[in-house]
Amino acid sequence: MRNVLITGGAGFIGSNFVRYLLDVDPHIRVVNLDLLTYAGNLENLTDLPDADRHTFVKGDICDRPLVDRLLRDYQVDTIVHFAAETHVDRSILGPEQFVRTNVFGTFTLLEAARGFWIDGKPQTMSGVRFHHISTDEVYGSLEPGDAPFCETTPYAPNSPYAASKAASDHLVRAYAHTYGLPITITSCSNNYGPYQFPEKLIPLVILNALEGKPLPVYGDGLQIRDWLYVEDHCEAIWRVLKSGKIGENYNIGGDTQPTNLEVIDTLCSILDERLRDSEHVPHIDLVQHIPDRQGHDRRYAMDISKIREQLGWQPKEKLDSGLRKTIDWYLDHPEWVATARQQGDYQRWMGQNYTNRKDIQ
Ligand code: NAD
Ligand code: DAU
Repeated sequence: MRNVLITGGAGFIGSNFVRYLLDVDPHIRVVNLDLLTYAGNLENLTDLPDADRHTFVKGDICDRPLVDRLLRDYQVDTIVHFAAETHVDRSILGPEQFVRTNVFGTFTLLEAARGFWIDGKPQTMSGVRFHHISTDEVYGSLEPGDAPFCETTPYAPNSPYAASKAASDHLVRAYAHTYGLPITITSCSNNYGPYQFPEKLIPLVILNALEGKPLPVYGDGLQIRDWLYVEDHCEAIWRVLKSGKIGENYNIGGDTQPTNLEVIDTLCSILDERLRDSEHVPHIDLVQHIPDRQGHDRRYAMDISKIREQLGWQPKEKLDSGLRKTIDWYLDHPEWVATARQQGDYQRWMGQNYTNRKDIQ
């Protein structure tokens, strides 16, 4: 692994991974292809270690000539594919962009990789890799008492987002089976940590609480997610790139599965401690139950025994310490928060999803 194309590397997890990769291996060069949609932010890429080994390219993964040129010009041997539309609520209100980016974008990358690595020159196949970042949401929703998702759990995606990710996984798998493309897939649970765009639950709650705004809880708030600190995710991907078996899928999770209300309660308690003089203490009083997400998955939980036993990875961060680090990061980065909120259509989105929420039920 020398020349790595990262897609979506200006987003939340992608930018954390770019930073991790440059730090962990001094020989790797990174080409970062990102369209800078509302979720991408060049501010996520400041202070990179050894930034000379990082090249940013603003562009679309659906642009085949561009992807071809990048693979050729940078002699790419590894693709780590993060780029996607990622917010479930947006996929409910506007699914088309999810199909374009997540399905057609992944298809375009696969075709380009096949063209560059396989067609006419199979000798170049050794040492190359297409690594695809997927999600636990492809497995659907668990009932209370169901065993956690494992790698052989049948796919049953419930939202347009999850369905588009499932479709992209199937394409990746098919390119391995049909063309022999050397692939790995990791399916991950909910990430949190620095640089997460404040449309997702944890940064949204932190930032609303700071301003004394309502903390919006969909339905009864008893939905369960498996929360993973983003740096643990980055380390897991690295392990799979280094030691994972070609053709395999690995589940990654945080081994901690609180309800949404428990997460919000913990966030509020930490904020109460950190901001003793705030007029909004106790922050938990800001919780407001609002109409539920359409088709809302009730529970996710990941069985991570495969990656633990085969690659020796397990999450290091506990939920409480990870949430403390996350809150401190948002408190320490008001400029980043201001830029993210000014970006794209954030205000319009907040109006559409929250102010007008009863209209979509
Ligand atoms: P994000 O929304 O923060 O960032 C997505 C990035 O992709 C942005 O920088 C955006 O500009 C870029 N992008 C979007 N469309 C593009 C296109 N057509 N061409 C090039 N770039 C484009 O996403 P994230 O939360 O960092 O998620 C990254 C990946 O991890 C996604 O594939 C997502 O499905 C997966 N995942 C996320 C989580 C999570 O909790 N955030 C959990 C499991 C899996
Ligand atoms: O499970 C992995 C997935 O996690 C990723 O594949 C997705 O890209 C990522 O967005 C995330 O999806 P979720 O829908 O689980 O994340 P979100 O932060 O949007 O919501 C977490 C939970 O909180 C979910 O049950 C919905 C609820 N929620 C969310 C928001 C934004 C609320 O109750 N209120 C809110 O305002």
